[in-house]
Amino acid sequence: MIFKIPDLLTPEELAQITDQLALSEFIDGKLTAGWHAKLVKNNQQLSRQDSTYDALKGLLQKALERNPLFQVAARPKIVHSVLFSRYTDGMAYGRHTDNALMGGSSFLRSDLSFTVFLNPPGAYEGGDLVIESADSETAYKLEAGTAIIYPSTTLHRVDPVTSGERLVAVGWVQSLVRDASQRELLFDLETVRRSLFAQGGKTDEFDLLSKSVANLLRQWVE
Ligand code: NI
Repeated sequence: MIFKIPDLLTPEELAQITDQLALSEFIDGKLTAGWHAKLVKNNQQLSRQDSTYDALKGLLQKALERNPLFQVAARPKIVHSVLFSRYTDGMAYGRHTDNALMGGSSFLRSDLSFTVFLNPPGAYEGGDLVIESADSETAYKLEAGTAIIYPSTTLHRVDPVTSGERLVAVGWVQSLVRDASQRELLFDLETVRRSLFAQGGKTDEFDLLSKSVANLLRQWVE
């Protein structure tokens, strides 16, 4: 399941991040790519050692934590390995798959990948995030403050930026529910449960469905 979160960040948070990034020094993006992704990764990123990194990462994690759609659709255990990336003229990130394990010796699993667009789509030409499926591909270039969240299991790429500057935050989620089809099932049931409650309150049907959702979670959460 691929889902978008419009306005994940408030305009104030967005300004705070982009103002800070404008003053910061960026390093070569190859430094955090796997050995094969290095071959196709051509962008820049804020160093995780930069004095502003922790605060910016914290801001983004808080925005995801408070977002009900993210909570229900991703079932996050931990949001990790956040990067603030910049693509200027000619930069791209060719077709690759994300590493399954990140975080060095702490072995954090990537179940879901996300991109938060930090500047408006009109600020650059090209630079689409393209996600492949078995027989097609879909390109995403979204409004500033919007997030797209997709399974880390996909092949994907960032098309070359041909003018302007593309600014994004990317990161990964280790989910409480490892299996994507189980996550989707829980998401659908939870959506129905809430809609049942909105229509009729705490009915017998609502109670039974709540029991099923809770018991599936007990089986699947790790
Ligand atoms: Ni990637």
